[in-house]
Amino acid sequence: MPFVNHYCKKYLIDAYPDQKDIIENNFSSWYKLNVGCGTRLDNTWINVDELNLDLTDKNLEGENIDYINIHDVNNKFVSEGFLQLDFYKLDKLNCELFDVIFSQHVVEHIMHDRVDQTLKTWISLLKPGGYFYVCTPDFKFIIDDVYGEQKYFKTIDEAWVFIFNGGTHFSGHDPINLKNRLLKLGLSNVKILPRDEDKKEVMAELVLVGVK
Ligand SMILES: C[S@@+](CC[C@H](N)C(=O)[O-])C[C@H]1O[C@@H](n2cnc3c(N)ncnc32)[C@H](O)[C@@H]1O
Repeated sequence: MPFVNHYCKKYLIDAYPDQKDIIENNFSSWYKLNVGCGTRLDNTWINVDELNLDLTDKNLEGENIDYINIHDVNNKFVSEGFLQLDFYKLDKLNCELFDVIFSQHVVEHIMHDRVDQTLKTWISLLKPGGYFYVCTPDFKFIIDDVYGEQKYFKTIDEAWVFIFNGGTHFSGHDPINLKNRLLKLGLSNVKILPRDEDKKEVMAELVLVGVK
């Protein structure tokens, strides 16, 4: 199963096992938004990124590309399922449109002083009862590890590289603060998921899901 569908479904069911049937039976017909999709474009989602990644005849899923931040966005509809749009400007989409919003390794790219407003806008796009999925580096985990066991990060330099990501990370998140932030912004039943050790780039990331 494609990456975005697989992880979104898996974590929603892990978080809300009592809603397993609803999630499984309705997932394919849900209206789904993949914010900051990068190369993880899935044609069963509306994929949004500031970069125009035309993947019509390619499957780049899972590949790493070097992305550049382009801030003069032209808000152009590129191809079916892909919308070139700045994630600060998602208020251009209709309110309460989506059943689920997926953002993986994206919130850390929001300027620290714009996180609340930006997430508030994203959440406003969810239908009542819609699900919000966020996966982002866990900066508490990184700091704890490098100053503790050093199981993953052997040196502080190695950790900084991950933390700053070539100067493209503009905010930092940890499970408790992000959970409280999402609750404050109107989500309920916010769950912090256990780290999935099978996921390749998992070591320093956290996943939270919530319901509008
Ligand atoms: C680390 S990548 C994650 C890509 C993908 N979600 C994944 O899991 O592989 C971060 C993505 O956020 C996008 N991004 C950064 N700033 C953005 C902005 N202001 N508006 C829209 N997308 C943005 C980048 O272009 C990039 O594709």
